[in-house]
Amino acid sequence: TNIILLGPPGAGKGTQAKRLVDERGMIQLSTGDMLREAKASGTEMGRKVAEVMDRGDLVTDEIVIGLIEEKLAGPHGGGFIFDGFPRTLGQADALEALMAKMGESLDAVIEMRVDDAALVARITGRYTCGNCGAVYHDTTRPTKVEGVCDVCGSTDMRRRADDTEDALKQRLMEYYKKTSPLIGYYHAKGALHVIDGLAEIDSVAAAIAKVLDKA
Ligand code: AP5
Ligand code: ZN
Repeated sequence: TNIILLGPPGAGKGTQAKRLVDERGMIQLSTGDMLREAKASGTEMGRKVAEVMDRGDLVTDEIVIGLIEEKLAGPHGGGFIFDGFPRTLGQADALEALMAKMGESLDAVIEMRVDDAALVARITGRYTCGNCGAVYHDTTRPTKVEGVCDVCGSTDMRRRADDTEDALKQRLMEYYKKTSPLIGYYHAKGALHVIDGLAEIDSVAAAIAKVLDKA
């Protein structure tokens, strides 16, 4: 089963994708994670994208489509979870063409709906484990022991350079301008499932499981 998790910054895409990896052996393809890796590795491409990302703007279609294409050639596991991709109509068309070429289908697009006020609180309270990528939150999901990852025991807790209120404003603008048209695009294809992203993490996971089991 191949699915897209669609939603604004802080909707919970990464949190739910990690659960699906653990519970169903699916493969998470997060273009945000791939770009942050490129940024950390200090490659030419990494330097180019760092400034764009930190400002909260979208990176070019060409770069992210290239990253996705590379990963699609890798292991398929229990299916792909596209997390944070596609984000423009151009990316959606490219994904469709790539999947068709591989003889794969896109089984469901899950829109995680959350209002802006909740997103600010989620983003400004977020931190992640630099070692295993587990996602936490200062108030709603803190680590059991302060500063120590529940999953792997690492003390390398990080906050993202674009998790400031200013960058978030820009990320939200980009979402409404360039990404939200995908909701209509996938609705027209009969692939869209809307779920309440404001619910608790377990309830959101249950709603996603329901969609997956029918897909
Ligand atoms: P990306 O890394 O994709 O970031 P994003 O879309 O802004 O999404 P986030 O990772 O911020 O949020 P999330 O939905 O995963 O939420 P999370 O689960 O962490 O992109 C970053 C940048 O890279 C972009 O701005 C752009 O520059 C570039 N980029 C990436 N992909 C691109 C593309 N395809 N094209 C062009 N450019 C691209 O949860 C957030 C917080 O809330 C956490 O603290 C979590 O614990 C908490 N939380 C989660 N669920 C719940 C819940 N149900 N209740 C309460 N708290 C919750
Ligand atoms: Zn960890």
